[in-house]
Amino acid sequence: MPSVVVRAPAKLNLTLDVLGKREDGYHEMKMVMQSVSLADTLTLNREEGEGIFLSANLGFLPLDGRNLAFKAAQELQRSTGVKLGRLSIEMKKQIPVCAGTAGGSSDAAAVLRGLNELLGLGLNIDELAEIGKKVGSDVPYCVLGGTALAEGRGERITPLPALPACHVVMVKPDFPVSTPQLFAKLGERKVRCHPDTAGMLTAIERGDLNAVARRLYNVFEEVLPPKRRERVEELKRALLDGGALGSCMTGTGPTVFGIFDRQDLAEQTHRNLKRHIRETFLVQTI
Ligand code: C5P
Repeated sequence: MPSVVVRAPAKLNLTLDVLGKREDGYHEMKMVMQSVSLADTLTLNREEGEGIFLSANLGFLPLDGRNLAFKAAQELQRSTGVKLGRLSIEMKKQIPVCAGTAGGSSDAAAVLRGLNELLGLGLNIDELAEIGKKVGSDVPYCVLGGTALAEGRGERITPLPALPACHVVMVKPDFPVSTPQLFAKLGERKVRCHPDTAGMLTAIERGDLNAVARRLYNVFEEVLPPKRRERVEELKRALLDGGALGSCMTGTGPTVFGIFDRQDLAEQTHRNLKRHIRETFLVQTI
């Protein structure tokens, strides 16, 4: 039975800027994205027959067309006309769900990469990203991964040099976020502060981790409801107090992360936060 195993890494936003609302209802974005070693694992099996069968190690996930991994397989079939046969996708989730870390988008991108290999389609990264764009705005970046600038809806990707080796502590507080609601809130008032994206790009080009950490910035933090913003600030402070060079929220949250150059401080901070918050992770950039 032909099968492939693919990894789907989580992403962090080193910067996230919203430049305005577009005529198609989406927002014009400018974001520096970074993949990390925390990853889901997907096993794709193809047999005689028909249908897409998704399973996961988490009971509460939808396993039909509402799941981006399922949607990606459907979209690949629709876009290329290829016959999937009876496709089973077994997902082992490690990335927290609804966390601002693109878990769903990364699973979708992994399905596209995996099917490309399994079916010997010979599609290149740009062709896979083009299909991914129809599944979700973050999917094209996830097809490529690494360090990259994402513009437009988030689907226009420019690869960047890798960050210097570092350690990242990620922590997900337990409040839910609504992405469309936060976008709507940003629309109600002008974004007051923007990230220094140009400075971030220069810092990355120079391999200057301190300068990268100083420029972490996400405009969505500004429009969080007050109690949640307080919680995010508290966690950012805890990461800095633990020795992080910089800290920030990723995506529409609620995950907050800190970048460390010293492994011992990252490990200690991870241990301290993990005592209070279950979904705390120590990861590396990839
Ligand atoms: O593209 P995706 O389905 O991931 O987007 C989810 C939602 O996020 C959209 O329906 C929209 O409300 C918001 N969004 C946006 N502008 C973007 C990306 C997402 O307004 N560039």
